[in-house]
Amino acid sequence: MTVVVDSILNQMTLEEKIGQLNLPSAGEFVTGQAENSDLAKKIEKGMIGGLFNIKTAARIREVQKLAIEKSRTKIPLIFGMDVIHGYESVFPIPLGLSCSWDMKLIERSARIAAQEASADGINWTFSPMVDISRDARWGRISEGSGEDPYLGSQIARAMVRGYQGNDLSANNTIMSCVKHYALYGAAEAGRDYNTVDMSHHRMYNEYLPPYKAAVDEGAGSIMASFNEVDGIPATANKWLLTDVLRKEWGFKGFVVSDYTGLTEMIEHGYGDTIAVSAKALEAGLDMDMVSEGLLNTLARSVKDGKISEQQINNACRRILEAKYKLGLFTDPYKYCNVERAKSEVFNAANRAEARSTATQSFVLLKNQGEILPLKKAGTIALVGPLADAKENMTGTWSVAARFAESISVKAGLEKALEGKAKVLYAKGSNLDEDEAIEERATMFGKTLHRDKRSAEELRNEAVAIAKRADVIVVAGGEAAEMSGEASSRTNIQIPETQRDLIKALLKTGKPVVLVLFTGRPLAVKWESENVPAILNVWFGGSEAGDAIADVVFGDVNPSGKLTTTFPQNVGQEPMYYAQKNTGRPLGDAKWFQKFKSNYLDVSNDPVYPFGFGLSYTQFTYGDLSLSKNQMSSNDSIIASINVTNIGKRDGAEVVQFYIRDLVGSVTRPIKELRGFEKVMIKAGETKTITFKITNEQLSFYRQDLSYGSEPGKFQLFVGGNSRDVKQVEFTLN
Ligand code: BGC
Repeated sequence: MTVVVDSILNQMTLEEKIGQLNLPSAGEFVTGQAENSDLAKKIEKGMIGGLFNIKTAARIREVQKLAIEKSRTKIPLIFGMDVIHGYESVFPIPLGLSCSWDMKLIERSARIAAQEASADGINWTFSPMVDISRDARWGRISEGSGEDPYLGSQIARAMVRGYQGNDLSANNTIMSCVKHYALYGAAEAGRDYNTVDMSHHRMYNEYLPPYKAAVDEGAGSIMASFNEVDGIPATANKWLLTDVLRKEWGFKGFVVSDYTGLTEMIEHGYGDTIAVSAKALEAGLDMDMVSEGLLNTLARSVKDGKISEQQINNACRRILEAKYKLGLFTDPYKYCNVERAKSEVFNAANRAEARSTATQSFVLLKNQGEILPLKKAGTIALVGPLADAKENMTGTWSVAARFAESISVKAGLEKALEGKAKVLYAKGSNLDEDEAIEERATMFGKTLHRDKRSAEELRNEAVAIAKRADVIVVAGGEAAEMSGEASSRTNIQIPETQRDLIKALLKTGKPVVLVLFTGRPLAVKWESENVPAILNVWFGGSEAGDAIADVVFGDVNPSGKLTTTFPQNVGQEPMYYAQKNTGRPLGDAKWFQKFKSNYLDVSNDPVYPFGFGLSYTQFTYGDLSLSKNQMSSNDSIIASINVTNIGKRDGAEVVQFYIRDLVGSVTRPIKELRGFEKVMIKAGETKTITFKITNEQLSFYRQDLSYGSEPGKFQLFVGGNSRDVKQVEFTLN
């Protein structure tokens, strides 16, 4: 690789090298007219290294041709896209996917996304998003894997493996871009793009691990985040982009900014375009997404002695290396086979995988009196703003989705019940009484077809059909764009008008099932107390409606477990299970205790804790036993526990192991996930689950950022969620 890249680099002018660092969005390209556009002229002049936001093998071939046939260097372009949770066959939003706790399944979803995207011309995806987030207000919590660094790291690895496979030069794998480096999920007050400030020991223990895991797995590129870290925007943060990423972690790929992240540093108050561009390059940024700051200033900055040509060579080399690894120098059109696109994109097999994957992401939050699963008989009243809303099923960041072909809840239920039972439908309510909120929550074509009738009229219609039904299914919650980028909320409840609808339906006395759509942990205290059954379905993807029917009627037994804490109210945020004990913990005392760490108006409990999720069967946990209760740092202990399925259906359980280090040189959280196993257990069967405690599980970053374990007493907890656990103690000598 080095020889090839060196020889290309040697033939390039300074301007051409700078051109490789430029990544515009391809918004303006029109098929058949590509040649006449401004972008085309830039490509011909060697002023562009890659493009994103462009789709289809045919169009991409047309554009690639410009670079290969018209530019002097003939360097192929790299084509990126936000292939976040599937391409046209859309999988559940990442937060939902993480609730499967199934690494093979998650890897497979990324594999299929890569297969489809690569068949359609794309060779680079801006995924996985591995930002830890513990704040439900932040809309982008939907794009990540939740609050836990251990689980998040496993998922980061699975996604990178899925996209890149074991051969990046194959024509059906794509390069991944880990984002948003770093700490983007810790924006103050959950407001998107807001300031982040945290201690280094917290960064290293809680926020950086998933990025590092993705780098360790070989991710080809990484995206700098919009926020600042330690007072310096990530995009020009040398400590982050060079000292940690390259020197400590040994990252060999290239770093791209986020969308206009480079020139946004002017607003941050970090200098003008010339200054921020030079600083970013110096810090270790290689590619500039959209803002063209590097393109327009670097040649001048070299002349002025602000930066060296060698620094530009380094950045350019990394981008050329990425193109080399993808095999683009051998065949620039390798991803542009129109025939392949026809058969491999959105085909029946991929859609079937998306459907079964969606069933694994659903979390059963409540099932009083075993209302679920429903029988395929009688009459079902289906109501709610998300019931007949196919445009919303794929959720946020589904740029390649075919909305018209997504399966709505209504379509899914009707298909499952054909010839067996009747579905009566009424919308029941709009998303929100406030039209402006609904508009913001349904952008990018994700309309909910707002009904002009009054809330009362809509509700009355729903109550009327509900009275004729045996059971009521309400599909409600958030709309697709109520989470995602720039979709932060300060009220994280179900909109009032929907709650009014549910209240009216409950009054009919008929059983009510809430099929809850959301891209974040919602404050569903009221629902948890009043609605008998709640199935959280996130945004399940293009096949969501069929998948929901699979679970609602019991063809699939739900097994998803939450990867974020569901609070009682927004005031508890940021809320997460791996808290510190503080000097004044509540301990076993119940709320309220004066001069203890609690609130006057609400207990410290979540509504649903991290790791929580029910099944149509029940599991019981036996006693936790250890092979011995002392170990040294080069030794290990085997923990084992019997888990029994005491119900009447086969089901899967996610057995979770947590550890607490009772005394440390820095204080340690009251519980940290250190292992889990998802096991299928037949009705009546008992399985023994074992967990190996090694020094690695007991290690952490100390205040000086050295890494290791410290002797002393530890607790091990095991359970089906982070709250209801069995526990034992052991000692590290
Ligand atoms: C987002 C990124 C995304 C990029 C390109 C930005 O606004 O923050 O996550 O990859 O746009 O679409």
